[in-house]
Amino acid sequence: MSVVPAPLDNDSCDTAIRADFVHFLSDPDNSGDAVEYIEDGLLLLKQGRVRQLVPAADWIDFLPDGSCLYDYSGRLVMPGFIDTHTHYPQTEMIASHGLQLLDWLRQYTYPTEMKFAEREHADRIAAFFCEQMLRNGTTSGAVFATVHAQSVDAIFEQAQQRDLCLVAGKVMMDRNAPQALCDSAASSYRDCSELIRRWHLKGRCHYAVTPRFAPCSSPAQLEVCGQLLAEQPDLYLQSHVAENRDEVDWVARLFPDSRSYLDVYDSFGLLGPRSIYGHCLHLDRQDRERMAASGAAIAFCPTSNLFLGSGLFSLDDAREQGIRVGVATDVGAGTSFSMLQTLAEAYKVCQLAGQQLSPLKAFYLATLGAAQALYLDHRIGNFGVGKEADLVVLDLGATELMQCRMENASTLEERLFALMMLGDDRCVQATHVMGKRQYSRNT
Ligand code: GUN
Ligand code: ZN
Repeated sequence: MSVVPAPLDNDSCDTAIRADFVHFLSDPDNSGDAVEYIEDGLLLLKQGRVRQLVPAADWIDFLPDGSCLYDYSGRLVMPGFIDTHTHYPQTEMIASHGLQLLDWLRQYTYPTEMKFAEREHADRIAAFFCEQMLRNGTTSGAVFATVHAQSVDAIFEQAQQRDLCLVAGKVMMDRNAPQALCDSAASSYRDCSELIRRWHLKGRCHYAVTPRFAPCSSPAQLEVCGQLLAEQPDLYLQSHVAENRDEVDWVARLFPDSRSYLDVYDSFGLLGPRSIYGHCLHLDRQDRERMAASGAAIAFCPTSNLFLGSGLFSLDDAREQGIRVGVATDVGAGTSFSMLQTLAEAYKVCQLAGQQLSPLKAFYLATLGAAQALYLDHRIGNFGVGKEADLVVLDLGATELMQCRMENASTLEERLFALMMLGDDRCVQATHVMGKRQYSRNT
C-alpha cells in the first residue's frame, strides 16, 4: 500500500505530469529490477527537475495551489531520447541514393557541408534540425557541425533556445577533402579554443573536439585534438572509427605504424571517458578491450550502417567486454530522426548478426544507457530525484495498425516492442525539456 502524502507545500513542486511512466534504473542485461513501470503516476517537478514519481491517485488532490498540471492520462511517458551521434548539417541530404561511405562523402556530404560557410543557412538548418529532434522525442544529442566555426554557434544557439542538452563541436579536417572544407592544425586550435570558451558548460551545452575521422586529419591536427583535451579534460571527443572496410584499409595505408584504426586515435590521446566513437563495426578484440578500459563509448548507428551497406554492429561483443553503448541516428547517413525507428533497425541488425535485442534493452540504450555513454547519467536518462526533467509523451495507439496490435499485447515488453517496431513521430504527442513543453503534436 502506498503512503498517503503529507500535504505538499507550495515550495515542493511547481509542475506535475500525470501519465503511465517507464524508465530504467540500471542495465536490464544485469538486473531483473532494471525497469520501473508506474501505471497512472504523477511526476512532480520543481524548476525543471524531478522531485518525486508517485502514484497519481494518492497525490493528485494534494498539488500545491498554482502548480501546473499536464494530464496525459492513458499515455506513456519515458525519459527524453538521447541520440549519441548525428550530423545536423546533413539534414537536407538525408536519403541520398546509391553509394557507400567514401563515395557518399565525396558526392553528397562535402558539397552539402560547404553551404554552411553562410551563417544564415546554418541558422535555418540548425533550427529545423532541433525541431525534428523535438518532434521525435529526442531531448539530448551528440552532434557534428561542419568545419565552419559559425556552424557551431548556429546549433548551440538553436539548442539553447529550446533548452536542449547538446554535445557538439566544429568538424576538424585538414587533408583529403575539398579545399573549401579544410582548416589547418593551427587554425583549428584557435577556432576550437574560442568555441570552447564561448560554449562549453554554458547551460546545457558541452563542447566536443570533433576530428571528422583519421583519414581527414594530419598527425599534426590529431596532436592538436590531444592538446585541447589535455588542456581541458572535461571536454568531449567525438569521431568515427571502423565504419567501412575501404576506410579501414585507407587508414592502414595512411598510418602504417599503428596497430589498428582505433590505435591511431589512442596514440594521440583521444580515447577516454567522454570519447564517443560512431560505428565501431570492424574492431578486433584488442580494440574493444581498449575501448572498455579507457571508458570510451560506442554510438551504434543501425539505420546508417544498413543504408551505407557498412556492416553489422555486434552488440554482444560490446556487451561481453562491458563497453558503454548508446544508439544513434547518424543523420544524414542514417535515414530517420526517430529513435523508435532507429531501435527497430537495431533489432534487425541484431537479428542478422544472430543476436538478441530485447525491447527493455533497446529503450535502455536510447535513454539511461545513452546517458551513461555520455557521462551525463547524473543529470538525464531517467526520472531519478534531482534529474533534469526531459521527457517524451508517447501515444501507443497513434495509428490504426498500432491500435490493432496493442489490443493483442498483454505485457509491458510486448507493448514496448510493438511501439519500437511500428512507431515513429506520429506516436510523439508531446516533448518536454526541463519540465517545459517544447513540442505538442496538436498545435
Ligand atoms: N565518416 C567520416 N565522416 C562521416 C560522416 O559524415 N558520416 C558517416 N556516416 N561516416 C563518416
Ligand atoms: Zn557520423
